[in-house]
Amino acid sequence: MKLAVLSCAPNAYSTRRLKEAALQRDHRVKVLNTLKFAIDLDQGSPDLFYRQKHLSSYDAVLPRIGASITYYGTAVVRQFQEMDVFCANTAHGISNSRDKLRSLQILSRHHIGIPRTTFVRDKKDVIPAIERVGGAPVIIKLIEGTQGIGVLLAESVKQAESIIELLQSQKQNVLIQKFVAESKGRDIRAFVVGDRVIAAMRRVAQGQEFRSNVHRGGIAEPVELDERYVETAVRCTQIMGLRVAGVDMLEGKNGPQVMEVNSSPGLEGIETCTGLDVAGAVIDYIAAQVDFPEIDVRQRLTVSKGYGVSEIYVPEGSNFVDQTIAQTGLSEHDINVLTLYRGAKVIPNPRKDRLLEAGDKLLCFGKLEAMRDMIPARTRRRRRPAVSQLEAEQPQADGS
Ligand SMILES: Nc1ncnc2c1ncn2[C@@H]1O[C@H](COP(=O)(O)OP(=O)(O)O)[C@@H](O)[C@H]1O
Ligand SMILES: [Mg+2]
Repeated sequence: MKLAVLSCAPNAYSTRRLKEAALQRDHRVKVLNTLKFAIDLDQGSPDLFYRQKHLSSYDAVLPRIGASITYYGTAVVRQFQEMDVFCANTAHGISNSRDKLRSLQILSRHHIGIPRTTFVRDKKDVIPAIERVGGAPVIIKLIEGTQGIGVLLAESVKQAESIIELLQSQKQNVLIQKFVAESKGRDIRAFVVGDRVIAAMRRVAQGQEFRSNVHRGGIAEPVELDERYVETAVRCTQIMGLRVAGVDMLEGKNGPQVMEVNSSPGLEGIETCTGLDVAGAVIDYIAAQVDFPEIDVRQRLTVSKGYGVSEIYVPEGSNFVDQTIAQTGLSEHDINVLTLYRGAKVIPNPRKDRLLEAGDKLLCFGKLEAMRDMIPARTRRRRRPAVSQLEAEQPQADGS
């Protein structure tokens, strides 16, 4: 395959290793500086220029987009996607994971352990928010921090209040998060490729420090993850829409607590610590996936008028409970079940003879009108705003 690694740091360990691993496997590979692309848009033909020259064709792209260039970087990745080039991580996945609030919002509807977190703006909401996540000591986090910079531990509510006030006065958005004390300055980094954890390490903060980032002096050790940690890491990666990711988890008393999902995880720490060829695993994965560029399913499926994607919920007492998918008559109504969500389980392409249970969610593609009738009346009303006539008003003094 011919691979482009998008990176602004050609000499960084991760970039060098990825290039080396690709060459070792007889692939063609170029490291291209993300900021040297020009994105050209024209009817029917999205295009890219690199250093003023028309970009030659590539089979795959591995984005390594730094936090400081998220906007431009994701625009370049999106352009590759629109040109049907396989991207190991999509623009959507990268944007989702970059923002700590957005990623927790996405994860929180799934059965994934996360530390209790709140996001507030009004001064009056600060103290109640701290109380709700369990009181002091409490974690305060900038939404787009990396390497532990922007993560603070406030010992008292008073201290938390003043830190938050200061940050907000500097126009910073901050999260208030439960301090997971039992993890004792340690966290787990699971390196996920596709649907597997290919390497994992535990990072241990040193001295008085509670942050275990390697950049904050944390020391890494290899770790054998138990099933819960593996499953959580893989599911998080999938939910975020990523295929290569570093998932950071605290070891909470009830299992993994996900803090963040990194879309450009570093290779140096994990390769050095585990002695595993992580770069090689990433390259092999990409080579195997090249023929399946990501498709924005919703966008493509809603092009047909009257058809779309929707989720049908099966509540307690629904007629669907204890029926097979075939018996529900969905397919007669022109509705196809794409995926069944059952608690923490995801069942893609469920068989027609599968029995439904209360609490199931069905991701469906089909006739919107028919699916609308399956959504309970109360939510349906909210979803279908009627356009009513404006009342005739006296003309305003300003003439508008
Ligand atoms: N809620 C928390 N409870 C305990 N420790 C935390 C918590 N959140 C973060 N930490 C510590 O701080 C480190 C950095 O936090 P993280 O959210 O991963 O930000 P960054 O993007 O800067 O790495 C983590 O690796 C962990 O050691
Ligand atoms: Mg982190």
